[in-house]
Amino acid sequence: MIDTDEKHHVVTIEINGVRQTASVEARKLLVHLLRDDLGLTGTHVGCDTSQCGACTVDIDGKAVKSCTVLAVMADGSRVTTIEGLSPTATTASHRVQKAWQAEDVPQCGYCQSGQIMAAAALLTKTADPSDEQIDQAMTNICRCGTYQRIRAAVHRAAKEA
Ligand code: FES
Repeated sequence: MIDTDEKHHVVTIEINGVRQTASVEARKLLVHLLRDDLGLTGTHVGCDTSQCGACTVDIDGKAVKSCTVLAVMADGSRVTTIEGLSPTATTASHRVQKAWQAEDVPQCGYCQSGQIMAAAALLTKTADPSDEQIDQAMTNICRCGTYQRIRAAVHRAAKEA
C-alpha cells in the first residue's frame, strides 16, 4: 500500500520497460526519483540547474534533462535511462555505447551517460545526422572537451544501424 498525503502524489511511470508506482513529494525531481529512490545511478547530476545535460534520459522518445522535470510531470510516461539501453551485463551494448567505446569518447566519463542518451534519441529520429544536427542535439557539456570524438561516435553509430 502506498502511503500518501496532500504533499505526496502517486505516480506510475514505465521505467526501462517496468511499470513503477511510487508516492513522491510534489517537489521531487525526476532525476532524484531515478537515482535516490530507484537506484538508477547511471543518470548523473552535474549542475542541477538544467545546463550540463549529465542527467539526460529518454522520455517518450525525447532526450530530456531529468533535473528539469518533476516526478509528477512524468506520471504516465515511458522513461529510459542509461541502464535501460543495456539492461544487463550479458545484454549486448546499444550501438551508441559501442560507438562511444570504439571512438574512445569518455575522458572522466561523468557526463557520458547523458550524452549517450541524447545521441540515441537523435538517431531514432535522424538516421544519419550531419555535424550540425549532432551539435544541436548534444546539449550536453563535456568539460573534458571531447566534442570531435562525440561527433565521430554518433556518425559511427549511425552507420551501424
Ligand atoms: Fe541536469 Fe545538469 S544536472 S542539466
